[in-house]
Amino acid sequence: MRHPLVIGNWKLNGSRQVTIEWIKDLRKALTNINKNCRVVIAPPTVYLDQANHEISGSHILLGAQNVDVNLSGAFTGETSAEMLKDIGVKYIIIGHSERRIYHKENDKVIAKKFAVLKEAGLVPVLCIGETKEEREARQTEEVCARQIEAVLEFQGAEAFNSSVIAYEPIWAIGTGKSATPAQAQAVHKFIRHYIAKQNANIAERIIIQYGGSVNDKNAAELFIQPDIDGALVGNASLKMETFAMIVKAAAEAKKIMSS
Ligand code: 13P
Repeated sequence: MRHPLVIGNWKLNGSRQVTIEWIKDLRKALTNINKNCRVVIAPPTVYLDQANHEISGSHILLGAQNVDVNLSGAFTGETSAEMLKDIGVKYIIIGHSERRIYHKENDKVIAKKFAVLKEAGLVPVLCIGETKEEREARQTEEVCARQIEAVLEFQGAEAFNSSVIAYEPIWAIGTGKSATPAQAQAVHKFIRHYIAKQNANIAERIIIQYGGSVNDKNAAELFIQPDIDGALVGNASLKMETFAMIVKAAAEAKKIMSS
């Protein structure tokens, strides 16, 4: 049985004070929520250390929004996998469409980041997903396959052992227009089958999150889908009560499904 996983991607939001307050609020909001759902927050890099301090003693885990492909050296402005590990980060979001678009990251670079994280014993959260135009042209599966294939070619299916995939259709990110549960489930099923062709065991175990306008209203119906194992949440992760309700929805949906 897969553990549901909900990650809050804070993106470029927060401050030192806000980090302290949000985590305090989140700890309070999560008090009575079943712990079978893993909860991760991914604040901006400069607040990771502070966040690590604030989550201590709770079951909240720490995530980062990016990593460099290099481990050390003359790479101004970058953060390495070892540095993230050093300050307590476990999950690292890579291949987010905002990085693919604004920072021109391609599948090859993302596959390298994936490898660097595996080597460091960290958990890559590989974001994949199509644009609106690609969906309209019925290329969703082709795009997702290509983005997964980059990692498969570089490292093989074994790399997906203890890794996470986040299906984030670009047209659903920050638009308030989530994929329907049926749309998301169809793509999640495709992703799991695609990996199963290489390794059925790993495919069965891999966590596939959905991301794109997830909120406290639509979370439950998404999580009830058999191949949706949680969510990568942007906007709604900035309001701690809402974020906690999404965690609760995941814990409850998967509890019902396993009983
Ligand atoms: P929203 O939840 O704001 O649509 O963002 C999703 C996302 O990009 C998470 O990584």
